[in-house]
Amino acid sequence: MRLQGKTALITGAARGIGLAFARAYVREGARVAIADLDIVRARKAAGDIGDAAIAVEMDVTRQDSIDAAVAEAVERLGRIDILINNAALFTAAPIVEIDRADYDKVFAVNVSGVLFTMQAVARHMIERGGGGKIINMASQAGRRGESLVAVYCASKAAVISLTQSAGLNLIQHGINVNAIAPGVVDGEHWDGVDAFFAKYENKAPGQKKKEVGDAVPYGRMGRAEDLTGMAIFLATGEADYIVSQTYNVDGGQWMS
Ligand SMILES: NC(=O)c1ccc[n+]([C@@H]2O[C@H](COP(=O)([O-])OP(=O)(O)OC[C@H]3O[C@@H](n4cnc5c(N)ncnc54)[C@H](O)[C@@H]3O)[C@@H](O)[C@H]2O)c1
Repeated sequence: MRLQGKTALITGAARGIGLAFARAYVREGARVAIADLDIVRARKAAGDIGDAAIAVEMDVTRQDSIDAAVAEAVERLGRIDILINNAALFTAAPIVEIDRADYDKVFAVNVSGVLFTMQAVARHMIERGGGGKIINMASQAGRRGESLVAVYCASKAAVISLTQSAGLNLIQHGINVNAIAPGVVDGEHWDGVDAFFAKYENKAPGQKKKEVGDAVPYGRMGRAEDLTGMAIFLATGEADYIVSQTYNVDGGQWMS
């Protein structure tokens, strides 16, 4: 029960990695707000978890929605001790085919969404005092570019950079900002990634997934549950002295 009595807001937690975080946090004694654009699925997820979880409608691309979701979570949970900025979109295309509207959409969720949700929750944490923990979801994609994945890679590099600056700026208030960089994690997100590669690399459905899984030094793709240990640790007092870092949790894919 390492998070006993704590409260967390997790964006994009209606499915995938965010949902695994919500479940793991509740197992550790926290109460969580499952904040997602997909409120129907968020409600179902919260209902399945039980009384310790609430669903909050949130579109991280809209300031009014960020403010309303943070206010609702504070009202219903009493306060927010932990924020996980997890919501994100993936996209892929060769450079000459990148569409400006698609770029704007991905950056609105993956970069502006992270920054302004972090800002709204940090304001709350500073006002109530006592510090807090903010965890941003980066990616191995943020560690280097990829031929077909320029926009998503750049957005995740921005998350690593924002984590560094925000961590340096907010530690004076006792707020730790750190990030997790997963490698390849199986689930609906990667079903979409696989479809992009099927299109651009002429692969059969499922082929890219198999290739990337086989290439992981650990021997398989990640599962959402592989990431929960780091997400719990970074939210505890044991991580108080950790500031502005991005941790690779990727089966050995990247070393830095
Ligand atoms: N799955 C992987 O292989 C992988 C690898 C590296 C990093 N990551 C990162 O981990 C995080 C979680 O990934 P996942 O695989 O669970 O993704 P996912 O696509 O399964 O889930 C993303 C969630 O975000 C929500 N969302 C999308 N736009 C939103 C918006 N505007 N406002 C609020 N919610 C919104 C979706 O409804 C969905 O529930 C993401 O930041 C992703 O980039 C994933």
